[in-house]
This record gives sequence, structure tokens and C-alpha cells, in this order.
Amino acid sequence: MSDLQAAPGLDVATLAIGILGGTGDQGRGLARRFALAGNPVIIGSRSAERAVAAAQALGADLGIRGMANADAAAAADVVIVAVPWDGHGDLLKSLVAALAGKIVIDCVNPMGFDQRGAYPLPVAEGSAAQQAAAVLPGSVVVGAFHHVSAMLLLDPEVASIELDVLVLGDDRSATDLVQALAARIPGARGLYAGRLRNCGQIEALTANLVSINRRYKAHAGLRVTDV
Ligand SMILES: NC(=O)c1ccc[n+]([C@@H]2O[C@H](COP(=O)([O-])OP(=O)(O)OC[C@H]3O[C@@H](n4cnc5c(N)ncnc54)[C@H](OP(=O)(O)O)[C@@H]3O)[C@@H](O)[C@H]2O)c1
Repeated sequence: MSDLQAAPGLDVATLAIGILGGTGDQGRGLARRFALAGNPVIIGSRSAERAVAAAQALGADLGIRGMANADAAAAADVVIVAVPWDGHGDLLKSLVAALAGKIVIDCVNPMGFDQRGAYPLPVAEGSAAQQAAAVLPGSVVVGAFHHVSAMLLLDPEVASIELDVLVLGDDRSATDLVQALAARIPGARGLYAGRLRNCGQIEALTANLVSINRRYKAHAGLRVTDV
């Protein structure tokens, strides 16, 4: 897809945001923050009932809706992929038509865990985001929100999440829009961090953050200096 096909006319303040796998911690956390910021949000799930239940559990006042993943994808302006790496490729293959012409934001970190902790999994396409781009030729894929802790997003005691959201992609209008979306989370700043081919090390870096979190009992995020 060429530049500007995905983002023109989209106002970040009114964007309808769909979240695939939105019943999980990361999806519910992002749903909550974007709904608090005033965006219409749709939680997607393999089960419409689970999606509705997750949306209601976040608070009826937030107005979050719940639908099957395909319906959430179709109803949203921008779609966030928040499923485990295991189900990533197959889910996206099933949604090629529903996601065509949309910005798809991938926050998936392909990671394994063993007795020594977290480690990045090799991905044939280079990264989860590049796999999404390969599976979804009619969508504009952007990588973002890899390092935002679901625990902080969900915590009602945390008013502001101080970190930079690294945003990667090949379409300037789409990365600009996702940077603006990241900035709707209080304390967060969206920062362009390169083309999609550089998303692998961003996803892999999450394993380092998991190690930091375990050692220091933290929910670590990143800040880039001098920008
Ligand atoms: N947790 C974090 O702090 C965090 C931070 C940054 C990025 N991420 C990334 O965000 C993604 C989601 O993380 P999470 O902790 O929310 O994961 P999760 O709770 O394990 O999964 C999220 C949702 O994905 C759906 N799902 C599970 N297996 C699936 C499959 N095989 N195919 C399709 N859908 C499936 C489930 O929803 P239904 O059963 O309702 O369909 C589940 O509720 C991961 O890729 C992770 O790397 C997580």
C-alpha cells in the first residue's frame, strides 16, 4: 500500500481502535487507556462472549465494546494485534480481508521462557511485525507498544506511564498516527524508531526488560535521551 492510503482523514482523537486478543492483559490494558483518553475501543476475541465480558469488566462507563476478532477488525479504523506469538500468523491469515486498507499495529514479542528466564525466539520473517506485513499485503503494518507493561496499563493507581513507545514502520503517515496514538496514554511519548525491518531487535529487547523486571521487581520501560 502506498503512503497516505492508510491515514488520511483519520483523527487520532476519534479513531476507533480494535484490539485482536483484547481479552488478554495487554489488550485490556491498552483498551482501558485508550477508552480513558476518549477513543471508541472494541475488544476482539475468538469468542464474542469473552470479548463482551472483558469489555464490561473494564467498566461500563468506558463504553468499550466486545466482538469476535473479525467483527472488531471490520468495525475499527486501526487494529492492534495483542495475541501470543503462537497464534499470530494463523489469526492474521484469517483476517486478511477484514484488515485490508487499515493500519495494523503489532505489539507481539516472540519470546520463550526456560529456567534461565526469557529469550527471543527466531522468526523466519525477521520479526512478528514483518510476518504481519507478509501475511497482510493490503494493510499498513506498524510495530509499537512492545515495551508497555500491561500491569501498569491496567493499574488504576497508575495515572501516568513515563516511557517512550518505539514506533516502527515503512509508511510515514501511519507511524506519525501511531506516535500520536501512543501519546494519548498519559506520560507516554511515541517515538519513530526505524523501518519495519528493524522491529526484530525491538521485540527481542523485551526479553531484556523481563530480566530487568525480575531482578528489580519492576515494570521497566524505555526512555530515549536527547530527542
Ligand atoms: N503482557 C504484557 O505486559 C505485554 C507487553 C507488551 C507486549 N505484549 C505482547 O502482547 C501480546 C498479548 O500479551 P498478553 O499478555 O495479553 O497475552 P495473553 O493474555 O496470553 O493472550 C491475549 C489473548 O490472545 C488470545 N489468544 C490466545 N491464544 C491465541 C491463539 N492461539 N490464537 C488467537 N488468539 C489467541 C486470547 O483471547 P481469546 O481466548 O479471548 O481469543 C487471549 O486472551 C503478546 O504477543 C505479548 O508479547 C504483552
